[in-house]
Amino acid sequence: MNIRKANKSDEESIRQIHLKTFGDDEKELVANLACELLRESSSPNSIHLVAEAESYLVGHIAFSPIHSKTKGNLIGYILAPLAVLPSHERKGIGKKLIEEGFKELASRKVEVILVYGDPKFYSRFGFKPEPAEKYLPPFELKYPFGWQAIDNRAINPAKQPEPIQCVSALNKPELW
Ligand SMILES: CC(C)(COP(=O)(O)OP(=O)(O)OC[C@H]1O[C@@H](n2cnc3c(N)ncnc32)[C@H](O)[C@@H]1OP(=O)(O)O)[C@@H](O)C(=O)NCCC(=O)NCCS
Repeated sequence: MNIRKANKSDEESIRQIHLKTFGDDEKELVANLACELLRESSSPNSIHLVAEAESYLVGHIAFSPIHSKTKGNLIGYILAPLAVLPSHERKGIGKKLIEEGFKELASRKVEVILVYGDPKFYSRFGFKPEPAEKYLPPFELKYPFGWQAIDNRAINPAKQPEPIQCVSALNKPELW
C-alpha cells in the first residue's frame, strides 16, 4: 500500500471511494465535496493524498486552508473529507493518510488543524473539542460535539471565537 499525492486524473476514483464508503444520506454530498476540493485552486493550496493498493485507489484524505474571516490571515487547515473503502478498513490506512497529511502540514509550518467528525475516531490523532472553541465555523453545526482541533499555537485565548472562512467547496450549510 502506497500513499501519494493525488492528481486531477484521480478525480473519478476519489469520487467512487466516497460513494462506496459513506451512507446513502451523505455519499453524494461528500463525493461532490472531495471532487470540488480537488478542482478548486486556493492559496495556499489544499493537500490531497490517496492510498493505492495493487493498481487502484482505496483511500483519500483532503486538507484545505482556513482563513480568519475578519483579518484574512491564514489560521490553518481543515481535514475533510477522509474515506477508506469498506473492503480495506481497519488495516491502518486511515491512520497512515492522516499521519502523512500531518507531515505535509508540518513542512508548511501549520499550527492549527480543525476537523468536523466523530470524536471516537479523531481523538486518537490528538484532536480535542476545547481548542476548537476558539474557532467559529462558517455555519451552525448540526453535531457541535464533532468540532475539534489540534492547536499548537502559543496559548492566547481570544475573548470571542474567531470566525473562519473556508474554501468555496466547504462553504455550504448542508456540509455542517
Ligand atoms: C473512519 C475511517 C476513515 C477509518 O479508516 P481505517 O483505515 O479503517 O482506520 P485505521 O485502520 O487506520 O484505524 C486507525 C485507528 O482508528 C480506529 N478506528 C477505525 N475506525 C474507527 C471508527 N469508526 N471509530 C472509532 N475508531 C476507529 C482503529 O481501531 C485504529 O485504532 P488503533 O490505532 O488504536 O488500532 C474509515 O472507516 C471510513 O472511511 N469510514 C467511513 C467514512 C468516515 O467515517 N470518514 C471519517 C469521518 S468524517
